[in-house]
Amino acid sequence: MDEKLERLLAYRTTNYVMFLPSQYQECSFQNFDWTDQKPGIWGTILNFIEDKLLDKKQRPFKGLFLFGSFGVGKSHLLAGIYRVIAAKLEDVSELQFIEFAELIDGIKHRFGETGASASFEQIFKSCDYLFLDDITSTRMTEFSIDILEKFIQYRYSNGLRTCITSQFGIEKLDFLSFHARSRLFEMCVPLEIKGRDRRLE
Ligand SMILES: Nc1ncnc2c1ncn2[C@@H]1O[C@H](COP(=O)(O)OP(=O)(O)OP(=O)(O)O)[C@@H](O)[C@H]1O
Ligand SMILES: [Mg+2]
Repeated sequence: MDEKLERLLAYRTTNYVMFLPSQYQECSFQNFDWTDQKPGIWGTILNFIEDKLLDKKQRPFKGLFLFGSFGVGKSHLLAGIYRVIAAKLEDVSELQFIEFAELIDGIKHRFGETGASASFEQIFKSCDYLFLDDITSTRMTEFSIDILEKFIQYRYSNGLRTCITSQFGIEKLDFLSFHARSRLFEMCVPLEIKGRDRRLE
């Protein structure tokens, strides 16, 4: 890894809460209003936090796929989970939170710097816990679909925990191949987040 990326990783790691988008820096479970949520949601999140969300091979590597409409609190919850896992881990370099659009921009902007783009991609692709926010926020291009599919394949094959937010359920992500969707179903528990658009309040 080159020096610039090493510095970025070290910085992201020391200041990990800063890498939550600023509007989510105060988001936690404590200030989340659970009244619109189905009763099972909290239990599943807790199982994830406590390493009790098991995959088919009975390993605690299953992640979460939070989906639902605009402004219902998906990113808020994702940030809340990220905080709790960060507090639990000794080595926070193994945990990354990034918005999908930012991931794509970060990879693109490093093209041309020798190895930088691939190393940047690798930081997020291979960390133990990846919190990937809003995979449906931008228009999907061939390039971004390719990155997302590569991420899914890599994290699936390596049993790495992945938590994702999306406006649509996995079955509706028709820009993805069946191959990728099928893996997503196996590696994440889908949780539908309900409620109203709280940005309008
Ligand atoms: N249940 C909730 N309790 C408390 N605050 C909430 C809740 N749901 C949403 N909010 C607040 O409303 C705002 C929008 O929520 P958030 O960004 O998490 O929505 P989202 O589901 O990720 O939407 P989008 O799909 O547009 O990204 C945030 O400021 C968040 O803190
Ligand atoms: Mg969001």
